[in-house]
Amino acid sequence: MRKIAVFGAGGFGREVKMLIDQINEKTPTYEFVGFFDDGESKGKMINGYPVLGGKDELNAYPEDLCMAFAIGTPTTKKKIVDSITNPKISVPTLIHPNVYIGTDDVSIGEGCIICAGCVITVNIKIGNFVILNLGCTVGHDTTIEDHASFMPSVNISGEVLIKEGVYAGTGAKIINQLEIGLYTVVGAGAVVSKTLPDYCTAVGIPAKPIKFHNEVNN
Ligand SMILES: CC(C)(COP(=O)(O)OP(=O)(O)OC[C@H]1O[C@@H](n2cnc3c(N)ncnc32)[C@H](O)[C@@H]1OP(=O)(O)O)[C@@H](O)C(=O)NCCC(=O)NCCS
Repeated sequence: MRKIAVFGAGGFGREVKMLIDQINEKTPTYEFVGFFDDGESKGKMINGYPVLGGKDELNAYPEDLCMAFAIGTPTTKKKIVDSITNPKISVPTLIHPNVYIGTDDVSIGEGCIICAGCVITVNIKIGNFVILNLGCTVGHDTTIEDHASFMPSVNISGEVLIKEGVYAGTGAKIINQLEIGLYTVVGAGAVVSKTLPDYCTAVGIPAKPIKFHNEVNN
């Protein structure tokens, strides 16, 4: 059994702990030791497990430890991941046992979290630290770059390029053969029917940019 902790003790962090429990029910793999979170006090108990500290404590952690970064906002996730320099930390990809992944030319990087009910079909490339929350679908010939986050029930059709750091809100639908630009935010329920530029927030049906931002204030 490998020791594992979750960075992020909020609602999604607790759901990722549940995902780890469900992996263990199928194949005993991990021993859950607690949460890390810079916004919680060290020693606080969450669902029976302690907050072990924040980034500083994680960088000083003395033993081998797997980490899941349960942080939905891509810019925050990237900043925290980039700040972890402790060589004892490893970042397995966590995939719920009921996720269906095609066997033809699918690659998934490290540090990803793929929740219950997702379907990933064929000829798909998923980078590092990507989150596919509950019930997302990813269609053929799609590429998802690092740190992108998809909230529950996002559907991505075929031949889509999702650039680094994209965030798609609950229930968004992304139709085929288009691109979503770097760190762009797609609103909940949006239907993306045309390529979206970098660094914007787009909402509605069809999704249209309503504002532009830079990477740091996404
Ligand atoms: C798109 C989103 C990121 C915008 O947030 P924001 O930058 O704070 O923008 P605001 O709330 O100021 O909204 C700006 C305008 O867009 C509208 N708007 C916001 N989200 C919208 C959406 N999903 N669909 C349609 N219109 C939306 C607002 O009503 C507002 O309109 P107004 O200017 O006419 O009043 C956010 O509303 C959203 O959809 N987040 C996804 C949340 C989610 O899925 N969470 C999952 C948790 S598991």
